[in-house]
Amino acid sequence: MEIAGRTALVTGGAHRVGRALTLALAGRGADVYIHYNSSSGPAEATASDARALGVSATTGAANLSDPAEGPGLIEAATAALGPVSILVNSASGFPEDTLADVTIEQWRHAMELTLASAVFLTQAFAAALPPGDDGAVLNVTDMRTARPYRRHFSYIVAKGGVDAFTRAAAVALAPRIRVNAVALGVILPPPGEDEAYAERLAAGIPLQRVGGTDPVAAAAMALVENDFVTGEIVRIDGGAHLA
Ligand SMILES: NC(=O)c1ccc[n+]([C@@H]2O[C@H](COP(=O)([O-])OP(=O)(O)OC[C@H]3O[C@@H](n4cnc5c(N)ncnc54)[C@H](OP(=O)(O)O)[C@@H]3O)[C@@H](O)[C@H]2O)c1
Repeated sequence: MEIAGRTALVTGGAHRVGRALTLALAGRGADVYIHYNSSSGPAEATASDARALGVSATTGAANLSDPAEGPGLIEAATAALGPVSILVNSASGFPEDTLADVTIEQWRHAMELTLASAVFLTQAFAAALPPGDDGAVLNVTDMRTARPYRRHFSYIVAKGGVDAFTRAAAVALAPRIRVNAVALGVILPPPGEDEAYAERLAAGIPLQRVGGTDPVAAAAMALVENDFVTGEIVRIDGGAHLA
């Protein structure tokens, strides 16, 4: 797939990983619709940085803890920038719960935001893709679905759902739409933690360093561009799955 000239919608595109994916798409010539929930200032800054790369960029807010908000985002992006043919599902929560203390409400919130919002956005994306066009979906998941934490229980189970959804959607939407994922390890410090915290986490993995967003963007763009790859989940984790 040639990214130049496409319209891409990135959820959670305002900052951190989502911003890096937005700017990678813009750098390859895609117009970008930057979804945010609470980060309106960073979303505008990312849009301005995308425009400086020579593409059109628009921002739009939605609280995806209600997955019914997803279809409206596709409509808004299409109205602003034309038909969306690349969808990046990056928005997620990162709750602290464990199996012992998770409440039904917390569980539902994690499933709605991290899994159901990606499912129903993808459904709306596929329904809106003009006949004859091809499309690509990129999900952002976590390498820890295969080696779970004790904490972040509802998050990691929801991300496990994203893994299964990636494969199921790849089958359901072929051949017109490819669906792939990147499974991240220690890429940035978690919100509220500093660089030293991430470095301590990274000390125990084979490549012994924090990844940063460049390797994520490189793998994500390769998955979007490669027309013979679907249902693939690529770990960007410095070898953490081997440790
Ligand atoms: N950072 C890492 O090292 C790492 C590791 C493994 C996996 N990941 C995955 O990579 C993706 C991006 O991670 P990150 O660390 O860059 O994200 P982050 O800093 O945790 O930010 C979460 C993102 O999700 C959005 N979001 C949160 N609640 C939302 C809601 N109710 N409705 C809509 N959007 C909402 C936020 O938007 P606003 O800021 O606008 O509210 C923000 O863009 C996530 O899927 C995450 O699970 C990251």
